[in-house]
Amino acid sequence: MIELGVNIDHVATLREARKGKAPDVITAAKICEIAGAHQITVHLRQDRRHIQDKDVEKLKEVLLVRMNLEMAGVPEIIKIAHRIIPYTVCLVPENRQEITTEGGLDVAGQKDSLKKVVEGMHEKGIKVSMFVDPDIEQVHASAEIGADSVELHTGAYANAEGEQINKELNRLYEASKVAIQLGLSLHAGHGLTVRNLEPVAKIPGLKEVNIGHDIIARAIFIGLDAAVKEILAILEKASNK
Ligand code: PXP
Repeated sequence: MIELGVNIDHVATLREARKGKAPDVITAAKICEIAGAHQITVHLRQDRRHIQDKDVEKLKEVLLVRMNLEMAGVPEIIKIAHRIIPYTVCLVPENRQEITTEGGLDVAGQKDSLKKVVEGMHEKGIKVSMFVDPDIEQVHASAEIGADSVELHTGAYANAEGEQINKELNRLYEASKVAIQLGLSLHAGHGLTVRNLEPVAKIPGLKEVNIGHDIIARAIFIGLDAAVKEILAILEKASNK
């Protein structure tokens, strides 16, 4: 079955709006876990706009499922990852002004420095994923520097309209084929929702999706348990085809 990582950053966004204790990120993670999520994903940003260091520490302690830490490959955050040892890190580009992660990481343009980050994580026993656009050059570069997986950025697909939707889906399919040929574990994420997930979930060889905003947004109306389960049902149906 295609596995689900639930990104709980936006539970922390709501908490940070008042700098208090509620809503509690750990409770949210546990509800996702009990609902059947295979992984909890958090992005420890350099600006700490949502997830805080203490959240990552506590999650590592209490989670029964894997923790996937999204992060920029910068010394401050690398040091934290080496100390906390999440199951996976997913390297993402980070820009201080952005509302959310906007594009994929330019792995091809910074192979030497990223290879060092990958090696450092591997020495600590941490698997490394590269968050890249569905671009064959970026997938090749990820394999060359020793990444374990690529997470294909589905944001352009999610934002596409009309004929563009199939074009973006095609890019995802083509990049996926290359990732699998190169022996990378294939993941996808960003902008995925109950409404647009199915065609992505049908990509042959897809192992994992990471979904945040739509699950947390729907949780306000239908509850977090139900919001996780409706995504799991889509993944299960697609996995059985
Ligand atoms: N995967 C990565 C690498 C991301 O940066 C994000 C956003 O933090 C997501 C998945 C989840 O995206 P969304 O919140 O749009 O579902």
